[in-house]
Amino acid sequence: MDSTSFLQAEFIIIKYERTDHYKKENFMTNFAVIGPGAVGSVITNELRNAGLDVKLFGRKEQQITLLSAQQVKLNVSSLVVNQQQFDFIFVAIKATKIAEIKDALIKMCHDGTIIIVCQNGMGQLPEFTMAPAFQAAVYISGQNKEGHITHFRDRKLILPNHEQMLRLKTLLHDTQLEVIITDDQKTLLWYKMLVNLGINTVTALAKNTAVIMEMPAVEKMVRELLAEGIMIANSEGESFQESDIDEILAIYAGYPPDMGTSMYYDTMNNRLLEYEFIQGEFLRLAQQHKLNTPVLDICCTLLAAYQYNKK
Ligand SMILES: NC(=O)c1ccc[n+]([C@@H]2O[C@H](COP(=O)([O-])OP(=O)(O)OC[C@H]3O[C@@H](n4cnc5c(N)ncnc54)[C@H](OP(=O)(O)O)[C@@H]3O)[C@@H](O)[C@H]2O)c1
Repeated sequence: MDSTSFLQAEFIIIKYERTDHYKKENFMTNFAVIGPGAVGSVITNELRNAGLDVKLFGRKEQQITLLSAQQVKLNVSSLVVNQQQFDFIFVAIKATKIAEIKDALIKMCHDGTIIIVCQNGMGQLPEFTMAPAFQAAVYISGQNKEGHITHFRDRKLILPNHEQMLRLKTLLHDTQLEVIITDDQKTLLWYKMLVNLGINTVTALAKNTAVIMEMPAVEKMVRELLAEGIMIANSEGESFQESDIDEILAIYAGYPPDMGTSMYYDTMNNRLLEYEFIQGEFLRLAQQHKLNTPVLDICCTLLAAYQYNKK
């Protein structure tokens, strides 16, 4: 055997061993998803379709319907009675509910467990002290109507560059989830914060869907809000530019007019908003950096008033 074919043979053996190891690890790894809502059901379904060992948890044992590429029924297990431990746990409840699941989450973790926080917002990661936790910038758009979930678009999770996230990406290789590993996770989380700041704020306050972006006055307000958001993010070390506003507006323009946002659906259902983790976080930082943010201030006053005395 000449040296080239020897190297090729060695490469094939290593590749085979890696594939074999990957298959073995895939077979042995178990996943939990907490939160049988828009995001959690899509993640569960994609893992299930790829033959991975995944269990979906909610408040109680039930069955939910997910309308994605096809309509499927997903079994939900009760979080409170669970005794099983998991290698990877996707947390897909709203950030306002983290305290409610902490005890159950502690029981679900072993020494090697990794938590993926699939939530919008910033500032919640330190709540997850029970295991190493990483926040995903989540691009999965869906609507949850009392256990009937409609998946509108996207299946993307953006994760930080870390060996455990690279391992996760490999494990999810056969799923339809688009897992992106980045060195710029903080910037991409800020970008997601800005995307949420504009559309979530106006759809929640107007109690209307993305169709309102057709109104020039709403577009003007969103542009001003985003400009203030960018000023805040840049005070935190980011370097967004005015052109990013056009880019975000183009994202909104791609939304179906009847599509709501997470905050829109929460207001329609009279639920608490993730205000503290999105607009509230922008406001806290604006005050910390002594920035002038008149549009954000008014929006935050109204959103805080919506939350007032609500449980
Ligand atoms: N929906 C979207 O399009 C979208 C897009 C990107 C990012 N996100 C983010 O993803 C995260 C999840 O949002 P989502 O829209 O998927 O929320 P969702 O549809 O409201 O689903 C959350 C699920 O978690 C359950 N839950 C709440 N508290 C629980 C508890 N203590 N124990 C067990 N289950 C509990 C809820 O049940 P109950 O209804 O009984 O409370 C609900 O089934 C949020 O941070 C959101 O901002 C959402």
